[in-house]
Amino acid sequence: MSDKSLYERLGGYDVLVIAVDNILPRLMADEKLARFWQNRSNDGIARERQLLIDYLASASGGSMLYTGREMKLSHEGMGIDEEDWSRFTNHVAEALDSLSVADPERGDVLGFIDSLKADIVD
Ligand code: HEM
Repeated sequence: MSDKSLYERLGGYDVLVIAVDNILPRLMADEKLARFWQNRSNDGIARERQLLIDYLASASGGSMLYTGREMKLSHEGMGIDEEDWSRFTNHVAEALDSLSVADPERGDVLGFIDSLKADIVD
């Protein structure tokens, strides 16, 4: 095992930005998930993109300050169900594969996302 943070092992901030910009279009193009981003302004989507980058950077050991809300609060009442969750995690896995992110980092990222499930799925 390496002593380096997941943030460092992934390649730092720029790699997280590339990953988020790979993941978001997949989510928005998903026929079942699209409802979450319909009728949102470009400005709103840009804000969420940046919050997601900051959240992932901060949670993986980067020295970013995440100023958004916690996962339970920000997803409460959205009606995210098991199928939404499985679609979401499949898109993340496909994005990681498309960027050639291999284990152990691939498993660490997916494991971290899975640890959030109880806070996000209604
Ligand atoms: C099926 C799964 C998910 C769906 C449908 C979803 C959807 C959304 C939507 C629509 C928002 C905007 C909320 C608003 O502006 O009021 C949001 C915010 C956010 N989501 Fe998710 N999300 C999911 C999973 C995740 C996961 C796994 C993470 C973390 C890795 C995450 C991180 C965030 C962050 C950081 C915000 C911003 C919080 C804030 O506005 O303060 N989401 N999500």
